[in-house]
Amino acid sequence: MDDDGRRGLDPIREEVDDLCARTVAEVRRRADVYWDAYAADRDDARLAAWFVPRCWREIDYVFMLGEQIRRYGFRFQRKHVSALARQLLDEAEHYDEVARIIERLGGVVPTAPPPSAVTWSRFLWECLDRHPLGAIAAWNMSETAATGTLEGIVAAGRRYDLPDVVKTYEQIIRDETFHVGLGRALLDRYIVNDADVAEVRRAMTTMAAIVVESHVAVDLVV
Ligand SMILES: [Fe+2]
Ligand SMILES: [Fe+2]
Repeated sequence: MDDDGRRGLDPIREEVDDLCARTVAEVRRRADVYWDAYAADRDDARLAAWFVPRCWREIDYVFMLGEQIRRYGFRFQRKHVSALARQLLDEAEHYDEVARIIERLGGVVPTAPPPSAVTWSRFLWECLDRHPLGAIAAWNMSETAATGTLEGIVAAGRRYDLPDVVKTYEQIIRDETFHVGLGRALLDRYIVNDADVAEVRRAMTTMAAIVVESHVAVDLVV
């Protein structure tokens, strides 16, 4: 991140905004299909399975945020390290809360990536290795896309009388506003050259394609 004049997301802002809008819309559409299917067959095991990859992503973010800070923390301002650490705590709490939902439904809390989250997880860690902003860019796209499912989860929780789902996801919606804004702010602050722009574009574009599949997949319950 050599300083040859700050540029942030400006060179790709329109492209990124457009990609985010399309990805959110597609993830929302696919999530609605899931909830329509659930309405026809209200099965606890299947519902628990819906939450398993979501639960995994929460704990993977915890690991990744810790590694992001450990590996690249001194490249960022101290206040940004604090903000990333705050996000880490939020994600740990999300893991705990979503894990409780899974347990109440009789499911098994993930301690390794479930099949539908393997590609997502592998790509994020690869982005972390490639560039100091790579993982931030990838998880920013993933978290932005996930906003397309969160309100639907709260609505379904109300419709199907699942108060723990409503309470947990209302809090997650609040926290995600902070996380998505933080990721965007960091990209805008620390992208300084064409190489940074290229890595961020690669991370966000590839992640957009991955989340459309992985955010709506339900692992088979066996
Ligand atoms: Fe989270
Ligand atoms: Fe988050």
